[in-house]
Amino acid sequence: MTTQGLFISFEGIDGAGKSTHIEALAQAFQAQGRAVTLTREPGGTPLAEKLRVLVLNDAMDAMTEALLVFAARRDHLQQLIEPALARGDVVLCDRFTDATFAYQGGGRGFDLNTLLFLERTVQAVKGLEPDFIRNPDLTLWFDLAAEIAAQRLTLARSPDKFEAQPVEFFRRVSDGYLNRMTAGPSRFARIEANQTREAVWRDVLHAVQAKGWLA
Ligand code: TYD
Repeated sequence: MTTQGLFISFEGIDGAGKSTHIEALAQAFQAQGRAVTLTREPGGTPLAEKLRVLVLNDAMDAMTEALLVFAARRDHLQQLIEPALARGDVVLCDRFTDATFAYQGGGRGFDLNTLLFLERTVQAVKGLEPDFIRNPDLTLWFDLAAEIAAQRLTLARSPDKFEAQPVEFFRRVSDGYLNRMTAGPSRFARIEANQTREAVWRDVLHAVQAKGWLA
């Protein structure tokens, strides 16, 4: 069992139901003596949380949105994620860069090459090889049909800017996630989210155990 820092992200369209499993996975790691840093994007630091409020509530063009989420990510990496990984923590992050490719790239149709450039620039790590890009060691993608997620969301609290989008938007977001998984399959575990909560949790646990990170 590794004692090195681990970086795990959780992705999926709004309504896919990742939240309870993030908490449960944190407890599973803590039960095995690991220190866990629980965080989210956009957000995770005081500055990034301020940017989150803007991104989730204010109308803006897709490039502005992409620049703000990457600005938040830069601060988050420098202030929180890199120090936590250096300490040997398990970092569980509710969304990361795949969400930008899915929402700004897929959903809003923003240029993918610009996103790739921003990813390379923002996620470079000082002191590591120049072409190293900090990305999760594992990404759990909670895959749920956009129609089913939309039904779940109608039961939820008052929607933010993204949650209020039509079902076609979420179909494009899902395609964005699928394209990211296709580009880097070894980093991804696709979780079928249209199952009971217990079955989803079993699949989450299996995905992490398959990496040898949990007994
Ligand atoms: P979410 O993580 O679903 O939190 P909550 O459960 O509180 O609604 O909300 C974050 C929203 O931000 C979600 O709709 C996806 C969006 N988002 C982007 O558009 N781009 C990004 O890069 C990230 C990280 C999130």
